Amino acid sequence: MTGEQIPLTSGHADQQTQDTGAVTTYLHGGGAAGRWLNRRSVPGRGPGGRGLPGGRGVSELVADFGHQFPPVPVPVARPREVDPFTLLVGRHGRRGQAAGWAPVPAPLAVHRMTSEQVGGAWPLIAGDGLASTGALMGVDYLSGGAFYADPMGWALGSTTGVTNPNMMFFGAPGRGKSGTVKMFVLRMMAYAYRTLVLGDVKDEYEVLCRALGVEPHAVGPGLPARVNPLDFGPLGSDWSRLSREQARSRAAQVFGRWLVLIQGLVGSQHVAFGPSESAVVGHVLRELTGYSDGADRLAEITIPQIWQQLHDPSPALIAECRFADRQHCLDATRGLRDALGSLVKGPLAGLFDAATTVTVDWRASIQSLSLSRLSPLGEEAVGVALTCLNSWGRAMTQVAEPGDKRIIIRDECWKQMRLGLDAVKSLDADLRLSRTDGCIQVVIAHKPSDMLSVGDVGSQAVHIAKDFLHLCGTKVLLGQDSQIGDELSALLGLSPMAERIITGWATAARGRALWMVGNHAAKVATIRTPVDVALTDTNAAIADHVLPGDGS
Ligand SMILES: Nc1ncnc2c1ncn2[C@@H]1O[C@H](COP(=O)(O)OP(=O)(O)O)[C@@H](O)[C@H]1O
Ligand SMILES: [Mg+2]
Repeated sequence: MTGEQIPLTSGHADQQTQDTGAVTTYLHGGGAAGRWLNRRSVPGRGPGGRGLPGGRGVSELVADFGHQFPPVPVPVARPREVDPFTLLVGRHGRRGQAAGWAPVPAPLAVHRMTSEQVGGAWPLIAGDGLASTGALMGVDYLSGGAFYADPMGWALGSTTGVTNPNMMFFGAPGRGKSGTVKMFVLRMMAYAYRTLVLGDVKDEYEVLCRALGVEPHAVGPGLPARVNPLDFGPLGSDWSRLSREQARSRAAQVFGRWLVLIQGLVGSQHVAFGPSESAVVGHVLRELTGYSDGADRLAEITIPQIWQQLHDPSPALIAECRFADRQHCLDATRGLRDALGSLVKGPLAGLFDAATTVTVDWRASIQSLSLSRLSPLGEEAVGVALTCLNSWGRAMTQVAEPGDKRIIIRDECWKQMRLGLDAVKSLDADLRLSRTDGCIQVVIAHKPSDMLSVGDVGSQAVHIAKDFLHLCGTKVLLGQDSQIGDELSALLGLSPMAERIITGWATAARGRALWMVGNHAAKVATIRTPVDVALTDTNAAIADHVLPGDGS
């Protein structure tokens, strides 16, 4: 800037800059007809200085209108920046032996483009990585940096497209889904996260539990452990310290959870559970626990007790649920009684129908219930067990204090979902709650069609199961064959490049996955430390699930 331009009009000064003593001031208010005066710079003269010889200065002119220029700050002398590129390499390269000097310069074409276009012109450019918070998982091959998993941070921060901390893992058997999840929970423990494994159907989390000093519980025919799904769980721990109002509100929570559970269990026997059944069961629960009689401390009950009470309905039940007489009540509750009866007398008899015998430390760093001994009883039995445990898991999150952070793992979750609509609804509700209860729900499955086989095409269960994908802000897609890759692409709207990562790169080694964090994609190889190797090795235990060519 070498001069000063002043449109001389009546008006006010609205902008002023200075460069080596020259001032540019715009005065406006007089419209296009303003007269311009162009004046050469006078070094060292500021706006407060005198004008040209024989004329008035700008400041004097402005002062006529009652304004004053602010004083010009004295520029701070900055030290000259050191040039980091001291040695410039010419077009022939560096001189000297083996330094890369070329007698003929490389025929380079010069292009000019925007930073948006540069990614297309030079595809080897690295993308942005995610923030380095949370569990350090491994290397992101797209950004070239370390990859950190922090689902809660992603949901609370500004990671585009992540609205909840839930995670869904897909991958062919033996690709390292469970291993990746184990490493994730282990590394998140450094940030005070506790872990609850809601049903370990292959007993593969036992090693991890023992390494953390927690003895996992196991249920199955012939084992002494009993789990009462109607246990108070953590809700029963400090009941005596609650005031009367608090005790009543906690009772309401307990009844709500039990009703959802019984609905799921009855639904698993393909018996409808509508509002009338809900009213009947609700009444029986209040009667059996002593709530109807005004007790503050509820008595623990079991499923056989409910079943028996329904066989011998009390006059209060008949009256409150508006049955004409005892026979009417028995006829109307036949389906309900038979469904509960099959749980009491069926293959699961003796497992979930008595008071709990295991002592669960709800404050331990990890808790897990091994279910592999149930496998011979069939998938339905495992599904029912998972439903019972789900109810416990919900109780745990209901009493969680602020700052009590949990990761809830549902490995092989489709076994529970196959039970039908009620089981799917219950999982759906848990995933939706994660934003309010601060839990990270981790769902592990083989392929999307596992989710969709929960009911007939177009059924409500399938519809809800499809929604699961959107209830999980983060999808971790491990190696798959190309057919399932297509299925995933169709459901998640993956780009061809993303699909190739899943069906190609990710199948070349275990633990490799495409992490879809909202709209952000990361191509991650999870790195195992020597400690992790011992904790994640499942090859020996699940010989049927290893990949061809493993030789194990
Ligand atoms: N990140 C990893 N790097 C190398 N090997 C892994 C990794 N994760 C798991 N594995 C190995 O892969 C095998 C199968 O892993 P697993 O987690 O049981 O698979 P999935 O749950 O997908 O069936 C395990 O024996 C484990 O040792
Ligand atoms: Mg697994």
